[in-house]
Amino acid sequence: ALAAVEQGDLHGRRIVVTAGGTREPLDPVRYLGNRSSGRQGVAIARAAARRGATVTLIAANLETAAPSEVELVPVSTAAELREAAVALAAEADVVIMAAAVADYRPAAISEGKIKKDEQGDELSLRLVRNPDILKELAEKRAEGRLVVGFAAETEPDRDALLALARKKLDAKGCDFLVVNVVGWDRGFASHDNEIIVLDRGGDIVAEASGSKMSVADRILDAIG
Ligand code: CTP
Ligand code: CA
Repeated sequence: ALAAVEQGDLHGRRIVVTAGGTREPLDPVRYLGNRSSGRQGVAIARAAARRGATVTLIAANLETAAPSEVELVPVSTAAELREAAVALAAEADVVIMAAAVADYRPAAISEGKIKKDEQGDELSLRLVRNPDILKELAEKRAEGRLVVGFAAETEPDRDALLALARKKLDAKGCDFLVVNVVGWDRGFASHDNEIIVLDRGGDIVAEASGSKMSVADRILDAIG
């Protein structure tokens, strides 16, 4: 007799994960960036693939290796990430926005390198807002599809943190919000993570801390 092939609980699901941090160019050699390593998003992509899902990872400037078992879509700017996410979300059961998307980009990109001689002792940058990708994905999502957001917050007080997160959840309109406590020595660059998952109504459906891989599994459990 044939042995039953073990299928993971996410078998047949198509999941899109965004990870990393966008870079917004200033000139041909410089950019504005952030400290996201992409490790939590990559861990979610890897965990989902191990559980049988078909995973596409939209990867913005990862500082960690991407898993070989996922389809990789490399991007750099918020505009590129938006284009890839909107296109791929149309075919996905779940989109998980773990990427740190730049809120602003330089209003103009200098064609040549910005030179000190032309700037003097001070340089002001004019920035303009980037579109909110998570909000757009939540607005466009079809019936039965899930959109999961992340919230990186530096608020140390738990109640204040939850209040901020619930406000963000309402503003975004996503199905779940993974609240991530970040700071100079937590969250972004570290290998461990501490998260709280809120559902659409703002109720806590999971809390986890530990390795980004164990946290990834808890997040996937919570969104079902
Ligand atoms: N996000 C997005 N598009 C943006 C900014 C953020 O899709 N232009 C997504 C992130 O990927 C994350 C969620 O929105 O899933 C929350 O990001 P966060 O930076 O915590 O919230 P913001 O809405 O940008 O608010 P702020 O940074 O002012 O706290
Ligand atoms: Ca932001």
